[in-house]
Amino acid sequence: MEIPSVVLSSSDGSRSMPLIGMGTAVHVLDEQELKSAVIKAIKVGYRNFDSAKLYRSEKPLGEAIAEALKLGLVQSRDELFIATKLWCTDAHRDLVVPALHQSLKNLQLEYVDQYLIHWPISAKPGICKFPIDKEELLPMDFRSVWAAMEDCQRLGLTKSIGVCNFSCAKLETLLAHATIPPSVNQVELSPVWQQKKLREFCEAKGIIVVAYSPLGAKGMRWGTNQVMDCQVLKEIAEARGKTLAQVSLRWIYEQGAGLVVRSFKEERMKENISIFDWSLSKEDYDKINQIKQQRGMPKMAFVSPNGPYKSLQQLWDGEI
Ligand SMILES: NC(=O)c1ccc[n+]([C@@H]2O[C@H](COP(=O)([O-])OP(=O)(O)OC[C@H]3O[C@@H](n4cnc5c(N)ncnc54)[C@H](OP(=O)(O)O)[C@@H]3O)[C@@H](O)[C@H]2O)c1
Repeated sequence: MEIPSVVLSSSDGSRSMPLIGMGTAVHVLDEQELKSAVIKAIKVGYRNFDSAKLYRSEKPLGEAIAEALKLGLVQSRDELFIATKLWCTDAHRDLVVPALHQSLKNLQLEYVDQYLIHWPISAKPGICKFPIDKEELLPMDFRSVWAAMEDCQRLGLTKSIGVCNFSCAKLETLLAHATIPPSVNQVELSPVWQQKKLREFCEAKGIIVVAYSPLGAKGMRWGTNQVMDCQVLKEIAEARGKTLAQVSLRWIYEQGAGLVVRSFKEERMKENISIFDWSLSKEDYDKINQIKQQRGMPKMAFVSPNGPYKSLQQLWDGEI
């Protein structure tokens, strides 16, 4: 199965990013399960893998890549697109490059294809955990942290750099100081949280939007049922002989966005990439445009509850 890709600005001039990637975030990580899921995904056709220091998924992902090369499932590491993320505790001028070196060691790689700022906030250096204690949080110095991200690209440790969870206002701040603009902004995106304004802003600035939790992360600690239980999506799926998951993923693809979706089940992996040989109709769009918009994780605490709760919504809005 050929997965379409988009060209990113990168240290190599142009770097192709497959528009569907496999996510690796789970509540409780079983390293062996993740490793065999990645190998299955490579067999199914996935070439883009999304990891993060926070997920503790770098090591098993790296082992799976080494195994896939040994088995000849891919001829060279260059056939894969590997992303990982800078955690808040490392979001300080002098800690960014060492953090990426550690991630590369975990992944057994010489470079990643994409290094992303995970959240637009810093925390005191220390243990990587989530939620973060309130007294540990610090505002991010965008200018110096982004300069260090640029160093990562210039040093060849990553082919491209980007961000996650940045609002238009935060992107404006970042762009005002950036020498290398972010190649992507990875954010929650689905027919139930369409982020129209942000997508338009990113398009105007040449930043590719990548959707996370495209199925609402149903069943996850940070997730919601509102995508998989959406009546409108159910009706469209039934009428078209597709699954609800495929309708949601197809809608994202038709917006020109990339996406990362997670299932460790082979049948679902296949289902999730089978979205490129059909399209949504005008009638489908008329219905999808009517879906009530709601962020999936509005009330999730970003800081632990030994102080007033601060939600992801407040972080997004710039109140913390
Ligand atoms: N940058 C960020 O801040 C950020 C935040 C969240 C996530 N992410 C990244 O985005 C990736 C994807 O997002 P996510 O894991 O939060 O949520 P998701 O991909 O929307 O949802 C994952 C859930 O959907 C189920 N699922 C997958 N395919 C399905 C299908 N075809 N039909 C029915 N259910 C299906 C999975 O169940 P089974 O496992 O049972 O198949 C799993 O419970 C993450 O793994 C992570 O890499 C990034």
